[in-house]
Amino acid sequence: MSAEDAAAAAQQPLAEERAEVEPQAAEQAPEPAQEQKSESVSQTAPEDNAPEVKEEEKKEENEEDTFTYRSLVLTGYGGYDKVKLQLKKGLPSPGEGEVRVRVKACGLNFAELLGRQGLYERLPSPPVTPGMECSGVVEAVGEGVQDRQVGDSVLVLGRCGLWQEVVVIKADHTFPMPDGMSYEEAAALPINYITAYMMLFEMGNIRPDKSVLIHMAAGGVGIAATQLCNTISDVTVFGTASASKHEVIKQGGVTHPIDYRTRDYAEEIRKISPKGLDIVLDPLGGSDTQKAFNLLKPMGTLIVYGAANRLTGQRKNLLALAKSWYNQFTISALSLMHSNKAVCGFHLGYLDDEFPLIARVLQTLLELYKQGKIKPRIDSTYHFEQVADAMRRMQERNNIGKVILLPEPKKEEPKAEEDKKESANEDKKEGEQKNDIQKEERQEENKAEEPKTGES
Ligand SMILES: NC(=O)c1ccc[n+]([C@@H]2O[C@H](COP(=O)([O-])OP(=O)(O)OC[C@H]3O[C@@H](n4cnc5c(N)ncnc54)[C@H](OP(=O)(O)O)[C@@H]3O)[C@@H](O)[C@H]2O)c1
Repeated sequence: MSAEDAAAAAQQPLAEERAEVEPQAAEQAPEPAQEQKSESVSQTAPEDNAPEVKEEEKKEENEEDTFTYRSLVLTGYGGYDKVKLQLKKGLPSPGEGEVRVRVKACGLNFAELLGRQGLYERLPSPPVTPGMECSGVVEAVGEGVQDRQVGDSVLVLGRCGLWQEVVVIKADHTFPMPDGMSYEEAAALPINYITAYMMLFEMGNIRPDKSVLIHMAAGGVGIAATQLCNTISDVTVFGTASASKHEVIKQGGVTHPIDYRTRDYAEEIRKISPKGLDIVLDPLGGSDTQKAFNLLKPMGTLIVYGAANRLTGQRKNLLALAKSWYNQFTISALSLMHSNKAVCGFHLGYLDDEFPLIARVLQTLLELYKQGKIKPRIDSTYHFEQVADAMRRMQERNNIGKVILLPEPKKEEPKAEEDKKESANEDKKEGEQKNDIQKEERQEENKAEEPKTGES
């Protein structure tokens, strides 16, 4: 069983200990009940004057048992409401070679939108905590861990289970954050940049003067791929995205932004580059894979790495799945040979056994970050209780860059409180003024009526 399998399996027993939390309850939850704890410790203290150390140990054990932490749990397949904020009980302790990390920020990936609909086979069945990347601070180290220390800020990579306040993970799945990197950036980097780097450099063999098509160019992987293309001289980047995002992606390094929603992107590309392209990255699947293959120049490379066309709404769409399956790209070895093209597939979720390779790529990426050559673009941040809004933002195609989830409970803005008070005061003043005016009006009316009475 790989580290990720173990982490995934570890999700299951915790399911019984979960309690769903309302946002308000969640805010109170992490507060330990200090009085209760010391009471229960003194009750269970042995009568034969055992050393104080034992009392301390028991107190700690008790604290570990009563500890609760916030976790997002996929409770079944379906719409946004299937991901629920729950409280898990018991402080997980790191075993040999593991560390416990207090999570500060988590990345939302397209795979989690697919996973919610039961379309991502690398996510174990519900109930399960999703989350393949996060960042945070090491707060405990297990036996044998040499190169991580309590207090280290790290980014973390796993198969699932990272969307929670604390995670226990193999120490070698954590990577020290470079100086100046924010927790949001650290949570945004691993999956998108490793994917983009491996496709472009390991499979695509990108070099100067090449042309590349990047679909979903304003998304997490899209922006990562664009920045990495820009580390090589004279690479022409064609990027498809919704029209409202073109200005941003152009500034970010896309040479030719194309609005795939109103135009045929293949025709647009042929107008600019009649011979076609050197590299096409295909995250869409279905009929777009054939289009991608047709767009390649001889000696060009197609890298298939997603099936976004299968996602058309909040819930699983059988028609879209059937269409995508019916239109899937197939080619015989002989035709491939005659075409002088390469077709590759990339899936990070199936590279578990190649972790040293992934770790090496991540180290390279962190170097590029330090040199200022890459920088994750954060689209938006949402607290755990707002996870539905976060998923909606990505699924409704509104994000430019990475959507981040924060385990920390959402705080009522003090300014908003002041505003509320101010507007309540204003309402009160307005009410009082209205009352005064009405009073004056009544007095005026009474005055006016008096002579009338006299006249009659
Ligand atoms: N194989 C791997 O190892 C691997 C790893 C990571 C990601 N991926 C794949 O890479 C792709 C991008 O992933 P990401 O996490 O970076 O997400 P993302 O690009 O941030 O995804 C959201 C954006 O994709 C575009 N989009 C295109 N088709 C869509 C659809 N059917 N539904 C919703 N949005 C759609 C939208 O932007 P526009 O309208 O502007 O285009 C939307 O804003 C996905 O296909 C994902 O599965 C694969």
